[in-house]
Amino acid sequence: MANVVVVGAQWGDEGKGKIVDWLSERADVIARFQGGHNAGHTLVIDGVVYKLSLLPSGIVRQGKLSVIGNGVVLDPWHLVGEIDKLRDQGVTITPETLMIAENAALILPIHGELDRARESAASMAKIGTTGRGIGPAYEDKVGRRSVRVADLADDATLELRVDRALVHHDALRRGLGLEPIDRDALLAQLREIAPKVLEYAAPVWKVLNDQRRAGKRILFEGAQGALLDIDFGTYPYVTSSNVIAGQAATGTGIGPGAIDFVLGIVKAYTTRVGEGPFPAELTDDVGQRLGERGHEFGTVTGRKRRCGWFDAVLVRQTCATSGVNGIALTKLDVLDGFETLKICTGYELDGETLDYLPTAADHQARCTPIYEELPGWSESTEGARTWADLPANAIKYVRRVEELIGCSVALLSTSPERDDTILVTDPFAD
Ligand code: IMP
Repeated sequence: MANVVVVGAQWGDEGKGKIVDWLSERADVIARFQGGHNAGHTLVIDGVVYKLSLLPSGIVRQGKLSVIGNGVVLDPWHLVGEIDKLRDQGVTITPETLMIAENAALILPIHGELDRARESAASMAKIGTTGRGIGPAYEDKVGRRSVRVADLADDATLELRVDRALVHHDALRRGLGLEPIDRDALLAQLREIAPKVLEYAAPVWKVLNDQRRAGKRILFEGAQGALLDIDFGTYPYVTSSNVIAGQAATGTGIGPGAIDFVLGIVKAYTTRVGEGPFPAELTDDVGQRLGERGHEFGTVTGRKRRCGWFDAVLVRQTCATSGVNGIALTKLDVLDGFETLKICTGYELDGETLDYLPTAADHQARCTPIYEELPGWSESTEGARTWADLPANAIKYVRRVEELIGCSVALLSTSPERDDTILVTDPFAD
């Protein structure tokens, strides 16, 4: 297998950072293909903690090429800040180790402002966004009024692009009671940051296709989770990009045939940040306990994550929409010590039993979970490195998860430490 896509199979925060880091050691190229700095990936390498939002996880490893694809929306100021922070931690970042798609759309300060203004407007239903301008930036992209990375190279084009965006944004801002945009100040900010971004700009589609032909291994690093996908997620409580595996192709410019293995990252229970339906949510002390044991606080916003039992219906669905070949199951140790565990196996809606999440938001909100109970285990699974280290009931739990979602475990992660991983199937194996 030469090229592997990693996607979150729930609502994000499945523990992708560690798995991507684990796999990136085996890869030559690591590419982000969607989202922006709304993501939060924490890597622990030799006891050093690296916090990444926008840069691909491979950036902290020597000798790897990190790529930001066209499917990403890029905040240039955040990019430069993140690069500086990593350099302070001793990471080497050069145009040979980092490449940014020339056709990626930029997140401007007006996007963040608009995102936050909408979220706080009493008249608009709150999505619970990260407030980073992700949605407004994607809106401008499909509205054909983005400033893209390549536009930074030519002043006349830059002015044209900014003017086109401002016609739209000033009208919107009037409606929201915001001040008109200071065009000259925005242009000055962009001119100042331009060389710091252009240094890394490249025709990423070409680089990736060349790398592929040269037999290099490419790891496509997804952000967020499939239930936040703009088409297949719990709309409108979603992010503004396609998150599922197909986006790895369109978000970088490599054909879908280049994808050899899709690894879905699945947490042993369920969490979600922000608003929106969550059928298996637990608002009782069990939910509280999962949150505390799992340290379920958002990396980007610090918000408390909502917690619930494992929902097999959702994961079965996301494994299908992403064509998942195997899963990495994370945070099993958070379930240590529960006398009994529950898994959601279906929903009840208006007297009917469903084996999938219905599309309409009000139907999603009214789905009540049907649970199956399993015996828990009192022993610790933390740090287990072989199946033999796991209690029998933990193995039973994993096997039942596999059965219900119709997909096998390729990797089992038993702590944040990279070596606390049980390998079943190597996604990169030939
Ligand atoms: P946005 O991506 O900032 O527009 O936020 C839209 C929704 O996606 C909100 O519910 C966020 O909490 C959620 N979201 C965005 N990024 C992440 C992530 O990396 N992990 C988990 N949830 C996220």
